[in-house]
Amino acid sequence: MNLVLDFCKLMSNPVVILGIESSCDDTGASILKEGKIQANIVANQDVHKDYGGVVPELASRAHQQNIVPVVHEALKKAHVDKSEITAVAFTRGPGLLGSLLVGTSFAKSFALGLDIPLLEINHMHAHIIAHFIDLAGEETPKPKFPFLCLTVSGGHTEIVLVEDHLKMKVIGRTNDDAAGEAFDKAAKTIGLDYPGGPLIDQLAKDGDPLAYKFPHPKAPGYDYSFSGLKTAFLYFIRDRIKSDPNFVKDNIADICASIQYTIVKVLLKKLVQASMDLGIREIAISGGVAANSKLREELLLLKKSENWSVYIPKFEFCTDNAAMIAMAGYYKYINGSFAPQTISASARYSYED
Ligand code: KG4
Ligand code: ZN
Repeated sequence: MNLVLDFCKLMSNPVVILGIESSCDDTGASILKEGKIQANIVANQDVHKDYGGVVPELASRAHQQNIVPVVHEALKKAHVDKSEITAVAFTRGPGLLGSLLVGTSFAKSFALGLDIPLLEINHMHAHIIAHFIDLAGEETPKPKFPFLCLTVSGGHTEIVLVEDHLKMKVIGRTNDDAAGEAFDKAAKTIGLDYPGGPLIDQLAKDGDPLAYKFPHPKAPGYDYSFSGLKTAFLYFIRDRIKSDPNFVKDNIADICASIQYTIVKVLLKKLVQASMDLGIREIAISGGVAANSKLREELLLLKKSENWSVYIPKFEFCTDNAAMIAMAGYYKYINGSFAPQTISASARYSYED
């Protein structure tokens, strides 16, 4: 398709975007029509549970099995025929290369078969764009530009200055482990399944967050570091088990509440600092860890004390999903930012200017 010549034609049709997400261990497909999400289907991969983390080769195989049924289901749920689709948005990166390749190849073939354009999406950009998702028949409050977004997932931890739907600057990032990784590794240390973040969150509900104290890691500026905390937690558990083999079993709620509280406090301290320095009180959080109930609770306290406007996406749009990919695709579509058929997946991929 000649993208320049056909751009006007594209803009005169109702915009219907198929979004595809396959960056890690969730296979997602979503349909966006007239700016609203009509269907958002995610297939999770249970296959990694026994390994304490995502096994890349197993993830790609599961994506291959899931991608066609997930797209089929999204079309059916949205009551959209594939002939109505005007563009395909897909996660180009960052992520696991084998996983990204499945979604990228599918999106390219689908677009080529229907002679429609491609929209290449950065996964981290899309986590932020999740704040602009509306479902059919409902509208949610949106952050006003400029705003700060704390994006916290299994692979990334960033503070982003968001100036526009397509203009963002990362002002802080983790120097080692991501916050989700800190949750998952702590969970593994105490024998919980992967992903451990939601399990820690659940178990922490009955625990005392101040029962045990862990060191707050140091990192320059708005950056983070979680690997020291992971090691401190590992040594703490190892030492306690030496004197009491039932230590974890008998104190699981307090242990979970304490490590969760530490991670949340570390995350929010830098966010408060960035907000004060930049004079920005529009604050958003996104990514899988944004589903954490303690993080949400502490944010709502800060909303009052710091006079913030706080934005937290719906749970289904915090963890990996294709609705955020379709939504990010929508902004690129109206901006005319299409990708060529020669595009390839990119495991390390920046979304800054
Ligand atoms: O954004 P996401 O679904 O995938 C990535 O792009 O990484 O984030 C997954 C991460 C995992 O580390 C998972 O443990 C964490 O988000 N997570 C949570 C919670 N729900 C998911 N961490 C803490 N509390 C939760 N409720
Ligand atoms: Zn993610």
